[in-house]
Amino acid sequence: MFFVLKVENLTKSYSSGGRALTVLESVSFELTAGDTFSIVGPSGSGKTTLLGLCAGLDRATSGSVWLNGVQLDTLSEDQRAAVRNQYVGFIFQNFQLLPTLTALENVQVPLELRGEKGSARAAQELLARVGLAGRGHHYPTQLSGGEQQRVSLARAFANRPTILFADEPTGNLDAETSATVVDLLFELNREAGTTLVLVTHDLELAAKTQRVVRIKGGTMISDSGTPVSSAASSSAL
Ligand SMILES: Nc1ncnc2c1ncn2[C@@H]1O[C@H](COP(=O)(O)OP(=O)(O)O)[C@@H](O)[C@H]1O
Ligand SMILES: [Mg+2]
Repeated sequence: MFFVLKVENLTKSYSSGGRALTVLESVSFELTAGDTFSIVGPSGSGKTTLLGLCAGLDRATSGSVWLNGVQLDTLSEDQRAAVRNQYVGFIFQNFQLLPTLTALENVQVPLELRGEKGSARAAQELLARVGLAGRGHHYPTQLSGGEQQRVSLARAFANRPTILFADEPTGNLDAETSATVVDLLFELNREAGTTLVLVTHDLELAAKTQRVVRIKGGTMISDSGTPVSSAASSSAL
């Protein structure tokens, strides 16, 4: 079986005050093409850290990540960036739009990095898809949190990613915008077969994915797909 994402014994430690602080410990799972997967857990449990490692934004202390068959921990920073640009869409918890670029230009960046022609028109179409057709010339500071989140979504879609990571994609949104964003995420999954990996506090959103994993203190404590231990049950969710 081919895994779009395979994570094996992933551990991340930081040294703080001369001592090692382990924020993620021995996490393992595998996802196939088109899977929808969510990671839930309390604040500080390591969810953003895990997502960053899976997407090749950060390096693990030990363990391995294979993204579309490529083992990330053997790659240089530049090689990882190339893999990300080819396969990955990422929606950051705090959007991370480039402040000196307009909404349109922010969406255009990944298209230009791929050397695609007609990137302005493609970016405009993506903005229209997230309901921001008229806002392309606005800078991030001129947009509300919800609008920035949707620009971030359009940018993540621009790569036509094999796998899309979204870190609390509805965390800053009102109910209506949240529903739009969720619809777009699952549409991309259905229409393009994009594997979806969500971090969320919203258990209703998590329940829309095929598999829900709960982490606490950096450890996976339950997995609705494959039970980690007999003690872990879906009721733990
Ligand atoms: N660069 C860092 N240096 C030290 N500790 C960090 C760093 N980044 C994150 N942490 C710690 O790792 C833990 C997990 O953080 P994070 O993955 O952001 O959690 P979550 O997304 O679940 O809220 C937290 O205790 C956080 O303080
Ligand atoms: Mg987080």
